[in-house]
Amino acid sequence: MTAPGEWRCRAADLGPGTTAKLRLMCGGRDLEGFLVNHEGVYHAYVNRCPHVGTPLDLWPNEFLSEDGRVFVCSTHGALFEPDTGHCVAGPCAGDELTRLVVRHDGDDVVVSCHTA
Ligand code: FES
Repeated sequence: MTAPGEWRCRAADLGPGTTAKLRLMCGGRDLEGFLVNHEGVYHAYVNRCPHVGTPLDLWPNEFLSEDGRVFVCSTHGALFEPDTGHCVAGPCAGDELTRLVVRHDGDDVVVSCHTA
């Protein structure tokens, strides 16, 4: 069962090197985020580039570089570490993606708001 402010999927449906888009209600606002399985560990972020606030993915759910090592912002090419959300190159170098809370519940991965 999914509580308000939560989004969940089966962990088995998101293998290493894959991402999934999600929507959450956080503080009364509809928020778009995404979840990544990076080397077997799940991380989730708000889908908003800290540079000018656009979503990272121009093509839906295209977040990772071809080698899967970084997220690429499709607008101006900023690069982010999947495990920290830290921007390592591009116009917002040094900034961070906003992290969402990830927990496991049985076979599911559950994402919830950063300000729960
Ligand atoms: S909006 Fe992401 S790098 Fe400019």
